[in-house]
Amino acid sequence: MKTENTVWHDQHVVKSQRATLKQQKPALLWFTGLSGSGKSTIANAVDALLHEKGQHTYLLDGDNVRHGLNGDLGFSDIDRVENIRRISEVSKLFIDAGLIVSTAFISPFAQDRAMARNLLETGEFIEVFIDTPIDICEQRDPKGLYKKARAGEIKDFTGIDSDYDIPQQPELHVKTAELSIEDCAKQIVSYLELNGYLE
Ligand code: PPS
Repeated sequence: MKTENTVWHDQHVVKSQRATLKQQKPALLWFTGLSGSGKSTIANAVDALLHEKGQHTYLLDGDNVRHGLNGDLGFSDIDRVENIRRISEVSKLFIDAGLIVSTAFISPFAQDRAMARNLLETGEFIEVFIDTPIDICEQRDPKGLYKKARAGEIKDFTGIDSDYDIPQQPELHVKTAELSIEDCAKQIVSYLELNGYLE
């Protein structure tokens, strides 16, 4: 057992006190969707809107985190599970710091997204399904990855030869084929306003 001979230390300053300083309720906006669906773009737009409103936020993005903390992981199922496990734990720390956190990872497996949700308190985890059909992602192909995957140059590519579990009950369902990036971001910020996250 990895926690053997270690003891949990309670801390004097707690999450709610940190969040109160910022006049916000901690929340994790968990963006999920295919590669090229617009997760990072929309998460960035939401982060900017919240920042303009004076909220204390942090954004964790798949590609960026894979350059550092998760630089040792690839795209096998087992590595993706570990990727999401680490991100979930890191997000929990930011939530504990009282922040509004956005994460933009494909996070293809429902079981891992449920694990991330279960690490947090009720209401803190907001699943944001960036719903862009694969044919549109493939047309956009901003990094040329679909082309490479179709040519067999990239293996285990999500939606082609690696699974994506469609979210069944996301708190937010964002249809990028029907809305501008700005309107997608506004839909998400409105949810936070209507549900009392921004005090
Ligand atoms: S995961 O599934 O949640 O662990 O993936 P994530 O950490 O979000 O990383 C996704 C980005 O990695 C690039 N990339 C791939 N994506 C999917 N499948 C394969 N095989 C792959 N190889 C590289 C790609 O740029 C993804 O970025 P986004 O922003 O999703 O397009």
